[in-house]
Amino acid sequence: MITVETVAGLREQIARLREARKRIAFVPTMGNLHAGHVHLMQEARRHAPAVVASIYVNPLQFGQGEDFDSYPRTPSHDKVALLSAGVDLLFKPAESEMYPRGKAVRTFVEVPGLSDDLCGAFRPGHFRGVTTVVNHLFNLVTPDVAVFGKKDYQQWLLIRLMTADLGLPVEIVGVDTVREPDGLALSSRNNYLSPEERKAAPRLYEALVRLRDRVQREGMHLAAAEENAVIDLQADGFRPDYVHVRRQSDLRLPAAEDRQLVVLAAAWLGKTRLIDNVEFELKS
Ligand code: PAJ
Repeated sequence: MITVETVAGLREQIARLREARKRIAFVPTMGNLHAGHVHLMQEARRHAPAVVASIYVNPLQFGQGEDFDSYPRTPSHDKVALLSAGVDLLFKPAESEMYPRGKAVRTFVEVPGLSDDLCGAFRPGHFRGVTTVVNHLFNLVTPDVAVFGKKDYQQWLLIRLMTADLGLPVEIVGVDTVREPDGLALSSRNNYLSPEERKAAPRLYEALVRLRDRVQREGMHLAAAEENAVIDLQADGFRPDYVHVRRQSDLRLPAAEDRQLVVLAAAWLGKTRLIDNVEFELKS
């Protein structure tokens, strides 16, 4: 694996891959890699012979008071994960490479509407930071394919919308969430959980599965099912930001005829904010 830390170094390596006529699959990350990230990189390999990953803790997507400073940075652990995933090229830029004019003065890319809904309603500016950095990374890496996790369902959709709106020549692939054996979705933020919170954390996924079953099998109305899930989570010690059922295609409120749905939730356990989602289908 080749590691580059500068834009010039990256361009040189990308030019080499292009000379060899290699298609490029790209997996952007913020590091502290786990089996979910590795799965994305393995999926990337199925789409292209050259896999490029990036590790960059993007300050633009962290709000004031959020965990930018404490976000886990684990370079030697990450290297092992990248090697096991068979990544060819790692881009690990310093902040000065990404923001030569400084962070305060820069151009943004924003998908209006959806960026302010669901998680965006609780994290103002977060998704603008995500779409801005992903577009920036796309321009530097020039991938043919980019792979994202459905664990961050809203992010995955926003990136597809951005790519379509801007006519970017990148195919966006979504990969199913990788979970612990007890159901908890793998996440770098799981490291923040105390042993007791870690025991309670799988209840988030369980609440979403239960909501799905209540709607699918018992025909419960969506609003009632959402309310019950909030009550379940509170009983298990969570402070939910939201639990909402939306349609998969655009994350808008489902209409009567919509069948492809997804329940999305964000909830706090102590000082840790966890997100998860479960896709499901209603029988006609
Ligand atoms: P990060 O949280 O490091 O996640 C990188 C990628 O891994 C994202 O596409 C995310 O959805 C995926 N991922 C995380 N946990 C997963 C799991 N349990 N199963 C499957 N995929 C999982 O998401 C970001 O970084 C940033 O916002 C980024 C896109 C890199 C922009 O800064």
